[in-house]
Amino acid sequence: MKHVRSIEELGVDGIVRILKVAEHMAEVNRRPVPKVPALVGKTVVSLFFEDSTRTRISFETAARRLSADTMTFSVSTSSVNKGESLRDTVETVSAMGVAAFVVRHKSSGVPWQMANWTDASIVNAGDGWHQHPTQALLDCHSIIGAFGIEPTPSCLRGLTITIVGDVRHSRVARSDIEAFTALGATVRLVGPRTLMPPDATPWGVEITDDFDATLRDSDVVYMLRMQRERMNEALVPHLGEYSTRFGLDAVRAARMKDGAVVMHPGPMNRGVEMMIDPSELPRSLVTNQVASGVSVRMAVLFDVLGGQEVAS
Ligand code: CP
Repeated sequence: MKHVRSIEELGVDGIVRILKVAEHMAEVNRRPVPKVPALVGKTVVSLFFEDSTRTRISFETAARRLSADTMTFSVSTSSVNKGESLRDTVETVSAMGVAAFVVRHKSSGVPWQMANWTDASIVNAGDGWHQHPTQALLDCHSIIGAFGIEPTPSCLRGLTITIVGDVRHSRVARSDIEAFTALGATVRLVGPRTLMPPDATPWGVEITDDFDATLRDSDVVYMLRMQRERMNEALVPHLGEYSTRFGLDAVRAARMKDGAVVMHPGPMNRGVEMMIDPSELPRSLVTNQVASGVSVRMAVLFDVLGGQEVAS
């Protein structure tokens, strides 16, 4: 594919293809020198108009491990501060010879707009509330790794994945719901009605506000970050009350199904949705998710840039 902008565009075949390549990339990452010459001569630009720790660093790590050249665009020191438009910024950077843009922006749809202004590949690193496809891919990669599953079109069939919290403002949730259901999982959403999207009917998922009732039969408990920066109204009466009803604490963790895993995309709000340190959970995948991010983003860059065979 030329671009990776949404899970819908990837489709189930694209998801499985990337998960398979990510397994090869994970093997590369276990080598003493985790680097292959797949993207020599290609330049990958990180264009982040919103803050990021793990997505930006893992994309840059992924590009370097494939021997691509990397450019980091720093909005705070760029001519955006002099009023330069997004279009002019993209066309200017593109003229320097860019193979792929990795873009994060607060506005939904920016990765599609950008594709009108450059011949480079576009990889969506998060657009508004809309999509964060590589987070969903790395989450799938973490889950199949934890449960010892091969990547196939129905590889999550039989698993119940419970996504807890602020679904309404979450591009991670939107991308995960699409990817998990595409691969056959049963997906359930838990949270206060005010933090659910107005209409989740097209997703075909169960919605409940009874977190405790979901613990015993969930194979994956996926905690979402409370996105206070995206809220312009009081959607929960009090954070303490939210934590009491929807936070994961030691008591709830102890009630989880044997073998069930806990996930969180990060960054996490300790004391809000996470009332327990993930390191105290026997089956936390939080650090696996970060490690999966490098392998999956290597696979995504390899896919969009048509890299050479992954050989040592
Ligand atoms: N999960 C995620 O997108 O984290 P960052 O905002 O740190 O990139």
